[in-house]
Amino acid sequence: MRPINEAKITFLSRSANEGFARTAAACFAAQLDPTLDEVNDIKTAVSEAVTNCIVHAYPDTLGTVTMRLRLFGDNTLEILVKDSGVGIADVDQARTPLYTTGGGDRSGMGFTIMESFMDTLKVRSVPGKGTTVVMRRRIARRLGA
Ligand SMILES: Nc1ncnc2c1ncn2[C@@H]1O[C@H](COP(=O)(O)OP(=O)(O)OP(=O)(O)O)[C@@H](O)[C@H]1O
Ligand SMILES: [Mg+2]
Repeated sequence: MRPINEAKITFLSRSANEGFARTAAACFAAQLDPTLDEVNDIKTAVSEAVTNCIVHAYPDTLGTVTMRLRLFGDNTLEILVKDSGVGIADVDQARTPLYTTGGGDRSGMGFTIMESFMDTLKVRSVPGKGTTVVMRRRIARRLGA
């Protein structure tokens, strides 16, 4: 399926850009006329994905993070978040609720939150090369739209 709209932004893994990415995704999603709840779900999922790049992918350095937003004809929003950082050795383990390598600072719930707030979540990772997260959420068409 070809997207009917698409946008891509690349930014440095600075924590200030977590808010930038979250808001950019919400602005792009606005064309779907989402409810406040739907926008908040999308923002939360983006926040978790981008925070992981900032915190885990580039623990001691700055790197680049790319977010690609796509809109499909069936009202599905697809959000891809990609880094070229350290990668994840065992993705299934990383997706397990409460699993974290972040010590006491983190709760290990990021992937679980992304999964529950979006319809689908795919995680691809190559240790030493980076991680790509792709999540999709279908926005209900509203009466009168
Ligand atoms: N982009 C990434 N690059 C490298 N490792 C990652 C990346 N995203 C997640 N991980 C690994 O997966 C683990 C689980 O991620 P998840 O977001 O579920 O929890 P967390 O980030 O540890 O805690 P929380 O998100 O609740 O603050 C992380 O602790 C980290 O080891
Ligand atoms: Mg996290």
